[in-house]
Amino acid sequence: MSDSKKQRINAIVAVAAAIAIVFIVLLLNRFESKPSEPPAQADIPSLSETYADDFPIGAAIEPFQTEGPGAELLKKHVKWLVAENVMKPGAIQPAEGHFTWGNADRIVEFAKENGMEVRFHALVWHSQVGAWFFKDADGKPMVDETDPAKREANKKLLLERLGTHVRTIVGRYKDDIHSWDVVNEVIEPGDPDGMRASDWYKITGTDYIETAFRAAREAGGPEAKLYINDYGTDNPAKRDRLYELVKEMQGKGVPIDGVGHQTHISIYGPTVDSIVESMRKFGELGLDNLVTELDMSIYAWNDRKDFGAEIPDDVLKKQADRYRELFEAFKANKDILSGVVFWGIADDHTWLNSFPVKRTEAPLLFDKQLQAKPAFWAVVDPSKLAE
Ligand code: GLA
Repeated sequence: MSDSKKQRINAIVAVAAAIAIVFIVLLLNRFESKPSEPPAQADIPSLSETYADDFPIGAAIEPFQTEGPGAELLKKHVKWLVAENVMKPGAIQPAEGHFTWGNADRIVEFAKENGMEVRFHALVWHSQVGAWFFKDADGKPMVDETDPAKREANKKLLLERLGTHVRTIVGRYKDDIHSWDVVNEVIEPGDPDGMRASDWYKITGTDYIETAFRAAREAGGPEAKLYINDYGTDNPAKRDRLYELVKEMQGKGVPIDGVGHQTHISIYGPTVDSIVESMRKFGELGLDNLVTELDMSIYAWNDRKDFGAEIPDDVLKKQADRYRELFEAFKANKDILSGVVFWGIADDHTWLNSFPVKRTEAPLLFDKQLQAKPAFWAVVDPSKLAE
């Protein structure tokens, strides 16, 4: 072989080796840069397929969760999605007449692409709502008004704003979304009349609830399922006040289809019986029930301790046992329960990681590495728990 030929071959080999090295480095970097995002487990059963004959299972998400390994987990295990924050009033109409649809649309699109349904959360809430709703034409807080005529005018203005908010949103999504949290957390047994003393209530009484449901029905048509959503619905004082309100609304022909039970519970309480008893009570009024925000804290209510990185096995076992008991009861009562939505999908992203204090929490069925926990097996295939 001539020298020049040898040189050419050497040069080609050197270039090929350089390309291979660059390729290997890029590949290693790719794996290194994603240590917190392991792939979703492929060889486990699907949660929603396990319950396919009982009720759909869902999860609340943020828009960023429509990509990456977390999205794969969602696609495999849930049939319903709920926006954890981006459909709340303050996010969707931050200023009067200024609707921001981008984030909400992203969740709706992701659901459509993957054969999932979206539930809307929430048209009306006292929290995460723009202050503009409650200011009069001069920018003064409506709640400070003392003149009766002006108070009446303010009430009218607020209800008009509310009607526009509801009709605009329901009108936009009515073909894609059929299940709506119309009002959220309106009951508070400690407040006067047992109604939460929100600006909504102080300015309009219970008229805002009526207006919201009627506007939702008007814009969404008969196929829209309209829910009143709250936490602690197992608590007899709260449950009974909610029952009374719903009955009164039904008497006035307000179109309420069901009760959303948030079900933010802990491994210590409340009892599964009290959760089911509440559903039965609303079922007797001809109403549907949904579990809308399920999670199970590993700490007792009001306990501020932190397990740190290592959650004791007996705690995870207790959680698994309780999730199992809960899902057995849900299954046994599927005649009055038409869906179960978790408030998140895996322990890497849950509001409880920073509420009531920043600490290690583990309220869901998948851990921070997106791997199935004992609680997952407890509701999907308890025989695997012994292994
Ligand atoms: C309530 C609300 C949810 C959410 C949780 C905490 O349950 O309904 O939208 O804000 O609090 O994250």
